Amino acid sequence: MTELATKAVVRDAAMGLSTARALHPSTVNSPVVAAGSLLNIEQLSVADVAGILATTTRLQAMNAAERARLLAGRTIALLFYESSTRTRTSFELAAKSLGAMTTLVSDKSSSIEKGETLKDTGLTLRALGAEAIILRHPASGAPELLARVTGLPILNAGDGMHQHPSQALLDLRTILLRLGKDPGTVDSKTLAGVTVAIVGDISHSRVARSNAQLLPRLGARVILCGPVELLPKTALGLDPHEGSPLEIARDFDSTLGQSDVVMMLRIQKERLAGVSLDLAGYVERYQLGVERLAAYAPKALVMHPGPIIRGLEITGEVADGAQAAIELQVAQGLAVRRAVLLRAFGVQV
Ligand code: NCD
Repeated sequence: MTELATKAVVRDAAMGLSTARALHPSTVNSPVVAAGSLLNIEQLSVADVAGILATTTRLQAMNAAERARLLAGRTIALLFYESSTRTRTSFELAAKSLGAMTTLVSDKSSSIEKGETLKDTGLTLRALGAEAIILRHPASGAPELLARVTGLPILNAGDGMHQHPSQALLDLRTILLRLGKDPGTVDSKTLAGVTVAIVGDISHSRVARSNAQLLPRLGARVILCGPVELLPKTALGLDPHEGSPLEIARDFDSTLGQSDVVMMLRIQKERLAGVSLDLAGYVERYQLGVERLAAYAPKALVMHPGPIIRGLEITGEVADGAQAAIELQVAQGLAVRRAVLLRAFGVQV
C-alpha cells in the first residue's frame, strides 16, 4: 500500500477502528496518480481550494447552455460500493450539466456482486471509455488504489472512515455564503475568528476528518465535541499540521456557546460494532433540539452532511428551522462538484 493509504489505515487503527475491507498491497501497481484526481483534502493547498471555489463561482454565473459545452463528449463513471443519495446524485447531475455522459455502477447491480475486484472493475470501466471515475468505497485508500491501477483521474466520493474531500469543499462554500464572506476569494485568514464545532460520531466520520483538516487551514478554530466512545483523545491527530488548533470538548452546551457554526453528524449505526453507546444518554447529552439551540447558540449556523436521523442527533424542528443550512449544503454539493470535475479534466473557465 502506498504511504498515503497506509497512513490512513494506521490512523484508523490508532483510533481503535478497523477498515471495513482490507486492500492488498500487491494490487497497487502504478506510481502515478493522474493530475486532477481528488483523493483527500490534504493534497489541496489553500491556493488550490481557492481556485476550486473561484471556478465554482464562475460556473454559477454561466448559463446552462454554456456550461453544457465544457465536458461535452466526455465520459465519466460513477462507481459506488456504498449507498448514497446526495453525493451520487449531485456528482451525476454536475457531470451531466457540464455535458458529459455518465454511467453508474453500484455494488448491488453489477459484477461487484459476483466478487469482481475493484481493480478489474476499474480496468473494465476504462476499457469502456471512462475518462474519470467517481468512487465511493468502504475501505480507506480505495480511491488511491483505483487511481494507480487505472491511471485515470479519480474523485473520492467517500472512502471508509478516511476522507470525503468534496463534502469538505461544499461545507466550506456553505459556511462562506451564510457568513456573508465572498466564496470566490479565500485565503488562510478567511475564517479567522470563526469557531466551528463538529459534533457527534467523529470516530467514524470521513466528513469530520476532511473538515477538521480543511477548516483550520483557513483560520477557523475547530472544536470536536462528543462522548469518549465516539471521540477518543487520539482524534486530535486528525489534523496532522503542526500547531493544529483542533480541540476536544465533551460538554455540548458550552461548546455551542462558543460556536458560530455547528456541524452535526449522523450516528453511523452500521459502523458501531464493538462500540457500546447508550443511545438514550447520547440523545440527552448531544441531540441538537430547539431548546438547546435557543439557549446556547441562537445565532449559530446549523449544518449536517446528511443523511439526517431526525430525533437522534438532531430534531426535525432544528433541521427544518431557519438556522439550518442543510439544503444549501446540498445545493453547494452540485455547484462545487462541477468545479471538481472540470479540474479532473484540466478544463479552465
Ligand atoms: C456522509 C457520508 O456518506 O460520508 N454523507 C454524505 O456523503 N453527505 C455522512 C454519513 O453517511 O453519515
